[in-house]
Amino acid sequence: MKSTALKVQPVSGALGAEVTGVDVSEELSQTQRDALHEAFLEHNVLFFREQNMTPEQHLRFTRIFGEPDTYPFMVGLPDTPEVIDIVKTESDTVNFGGSWHSDTAYMPQPALGTVLHAIEVPEYGGDTLFANAAAAYDALTDGMKELLDGVIGVFDSDYGYGGSRRKALSNLELMNDRYDEDSESYLSEHPIVRTHPETGRKALYVSKGHTAHLKNMSHEESRPLITYLSEHIVKPEFTCRFRWQKGSIAVWDNRSTQHYALNDYGGMRRHMRRVTMKGDTPR
Ligand code: SIN
Repeated sequence: MKSTALKVQPVSGALGAEVTGVDVSEELSQTQRDALHEAFLEHNVLFFREQNMTPEQHLRFTRIFGEPDTYPFMVGLPDTPEVIDIVKTESDTVNFGGSWHSDTAYMPQPALGTVLHAIEVPEYGGDTLFANAAAAYDALTDGMKELLDGVIGVFDSDYGYGGSRRKALSNLELMNDRYDEDSESYLSEHPIVRTHPETGRKALYVSKGHTAHLKNMSHEESRPLITYLSEHIVKPEFTCRFRWQKGSIAVWDNRSTQHYALNDYGGMRRHMRRVTMKGDTPR
């Protein structure tokens, strides 16, 4: 495929747009790069079809949106350590990313965004769902917005992973082999309403899987609010759903969205390549 005229077509009222007319394996012009960055900020997640990218081209494409980073729990590809393989084999029963979350929210500076490339997809199933956490914030009442002002969440990398990431990833045949044995656990405090550093828009930043509790509150006291907000973010009207094909790419903004990888393709293989980008301290 060769680049032609770049077009951006929204896929739902909440978030997401499909981009056509661009071959992301090429060295794109500054005009194309600016248009993609602008579309990323406007639509929160961009989708591309029928793209071939080497790991090096994956890194170059990622730099349009942010600086590639390594993922703390997995060893990346030998020459491009920022690129990790996410594989669910035919015999795996659990998947990676199968709960609503924003990537690496437990890090002091969580991932700005993520670029995911489909290498091998199941015949059906394995879609990824996305939710717009800024639209979800906007839809709250003024009373709730006031209540949330200044509330800090405690984000734990082991929370919701059966005790540890090691244990969770050991259930995935190939990802178990690539687990980074030097990795540690992460515990970070972030406001559960964060302001996007590029757009200035506020978004909810809380999830049942990563937010262990609210600061200065017990788990029991925190749970009802965490549960309410996490479920509010993923109401159907704030979401879109992406059906992958071989060569599809999704680029999402972790500062304003959450995503969920569906595990509905038992006995089939799904292989994705992922790069996350260095983020800032949520404020
Ligand atoms: C992830 O959570 O980064 C993986 C998403 C997916 O595999 O669809």
